[in-house]
Amino acid sequence: MSFNINDTRADFPILSQKVNGKPLVYFDNGATSQKPQVVIDAISNYYQEINANIHRGVHTLSQLATDAYEESRKKIQTHINAEFDHEVIFTSGTTQSINLVTNGFASLLQEGDEVMVSALEHHSNIVPWQMLCERTGATLKVIPMNEKGELIMADYDKLLSDKTRIVAVNHISNALGTVNPIKYMIDKAHEAGAAILIDGAQAVPHLKPDVQALDCDFYAFSGHKMCGPTGTGILYGKEDWLNKLPPYQGGGEMIKEVTFEKTTYADLPHKFEAGTPHIAGGIVLGTAIDYMNSVGFDNIQQQENELLAYGTARLLEIEGLKIYGTAKEKTSVISFNIEGIHPYDIGTIIDKLGIAVRTGHHCAQPIMNFFKIPGTIRASFSFYNTKEEIDIFVEAVKKAQQMLS
Ligand code: ALA
Repeated sequence: MSFNINDTRADFPILSQKVNGKPLVYFDNGATSQKPQVVIDAISNYYQEINANIHRGVHTLSQLATDAYEESRKKIQTHINAEFDHEVIFTSGTTQSINLVTNGFASLLQEGDEVMVSALEHHSNIVPWQMLCERTGATLKVIPMNEKGELIMADYDKLLSDKTRIVAVNHISNALGTVNPIKYMIDKAHEAGAAILIDGAQAVPHLKPDVQALDCDFYAFSGHKMCGPTGTGILYGKEDWLNKLPPYQGGGEMIKEVTFEKTTYADLPHKFEAGTPHIAGGIVLGTAIDYMNSVGFDNIQQQENELLAYGTARLLEIEGLKIYGTAKEKTSVISFNIEGIHPYDIGTIIDKLGIAVRTGHHCAQPIMNFFKIPGTIRASFSFYNTKEEIDIFVEAVKKAQQMLS
């Protein structure tokens, strides 16, 4: 599949606009991706043509909307290679996907059990597990990392034991871009008799996870980081695990029969989908996945790897600049600071020059504590970014440095 950067950029209307009078350079893709015209159109088409509630009506529109929603579920199943479509649960995002699992595990854990997360996690893959430990008396263990921002596998092996009930680790770190050795970690967790959840929020914009080949028990991700709408997400879970976990929320749609004496629950996936979902979002997540596949994940990775190499080399030209996260395996995220300057100040100045980056702790305070810094400037590139944009960015950072020194 050939890749033409100009054609690809033309798919994203927002990229041609000016911000603060300057052409937009959008390097905050780790926070959320931009949306191609096909996705924007699909949202409006849904509301113009088939808007109705799903799984509830005999009328034509309800059936069209239901079919489109379920077709999207199947598309996502194929995309991640899940064995069954009912292993694909629609959620509002990665955070809700993880909370669904932690909530379910509350009925399975007891004092003395251990739950493991890593030093590289986003708060959304730390706090729900801490809350679970508080509820159950289980103990939270943390897999440490080294100065490069790589998890230390020898320590992971030692921490695993017959007390470990579940391991939760991200596929790719949002703050540093590290790609974790998740296949190894999944196999090791299983050898110890533990389940494992992978937070794939930062992975799905860059690669296509194969949940059967990985053999993970849960894989959570968001739609909005992969060209889809905000408020959409997926929890993949192995059928056995999803059957074992109690429902997350009670309400309409997740029941078989309700009486005041007793309620029985619907089969998968509906058991976990109480209430009217983000129907348009769920359908259009399928459109976004089609779009990303039409660009091609080989092309996406090639473009992003080139941007990472070029951006790293160019930024290192700047005196006093330090990059945090130098793992051997990393994606197109560059987190850095400049000696003597607060990251927020750089972010504010380059915003005036039309450049969007994230500054701060990136919802990963333990990583910042590890490096003993308040935060970083994070440039996160997508396949629709260019080397010319990196040049503009580097010049802007240099200018900000001059102004602030
Ligand atoms: N988790 C998102 C980020 O890393 C919001 O910016």
